Amino acid sequence: MKENILELIKKQKLEEDCVILAHHYQMPEIKQVADYIGDSYYLSALISKLKTPKIYFCGVRFMAETAKILSPDKTVILANPDAGCPMADMVSLDDLIEFKENNPNHLIVSYVNTSADIKAQSDICVTSSVALNIMNTVKDKEILFLPDRNLGRYIKEKTKNENVTLWEGFCPIHERAELEDMNALKSKQPDAVVLIHPECKWELVEQADFVGSTTEIMDFVSKSDKSKFIIGTELGVLESLQKQHPEKEFFLLYDEFVCKNMKKTTAQDLLNAMQGKGGEAIKLDEDVMVKASKSLYEMIKRSS
Ligand code: 13P
Ligand code: SF4
Repeated sequence: MKENILELIKKQKLEEDCVILAHHYQMPEIKQVADYIGDSYYLSALISKLKTPKIYFCGVRFMAETAKILSPDKTVILANPDAGCPMADMVSLDDLIEFKENNPNHLIVSYVNTSADIKAQSDICVTSSVALNIMNTVKDKEILFLPDRNLGRYIKEKTKNENVTLWEGFCPIHERAELEDMNALKSKQPDAVVLIHPECKWELVEQADFVGSTTEIMDFVSKSDKSKFIIGTELGVLESLQKQHPEKEFFLLYDEFVCKNMKKTTAQDLLNAMQGKGGEAIKLDEDVMVKASKSLYEMIKRSS
């Protein structure tokens, strides 16, 4: 049955000028039919280079919004409109505006895991791939970093910048893993290299062999001559790595590193979206798009 759906998606793809983009956290069935798979920075940067007018986005809402902001002339369809990011929902527009009124000199740096409204109120946007480099360029400023307190703490420690105020947001998936989980797995797999996403708690991050975004973790494995790795991020990254490096062994740091929102998109949802029976074409307020694009282009300018 599933094979049939995948075949129908491939057939449908030939009938329209479109591309399917998928984040690495998507289910294997989606990654099987995607034209491009990547992390949030790769997908954001890719979109404006694509010639096709229609994008089916398999990921969560903030990612599809980012695609739309960077390519306003394109039709961006979020394959499953219910797929959100709980961390992005941890910052409200009213609270951010109040902070800005009380702290007019703060530079607002927002993680890409935010809604378009929040990006529109920000000075610079960052993804986990480029956050550290960009924060090194603004060391002389008072900064509010939002919403991820864990990525924020990591940046603060690495840039040794005390002038960074952290929002109290977090990723409910990465935040779950405790140091004991990591140590228990390390004692079972003492030769494995520990690779961790900076959305995990600082106690784990500071003990890891390598800290990086999805792409950085995947690049690390490709370049490494080691054969065993503990993966401190979402299951989909481990699955992508298994496919790319069948000769290597991967262990998930924590059993429940599974983002339910990222797994909401099924092949049937994607097919429905392609057949005009589902999905959501992202529509955003013009003014919000223009303002949000400034913070995204600021990221692209500072990271190229
Ligand atoms: P990346 O920036 O590594 O793709 O991560 C996005 C995300 O949502 C992590 O939980
Ligand atoms: Fe959001 Fe966390 Fe899921 Fe990433 S893993 S999309 S930060 S809830």
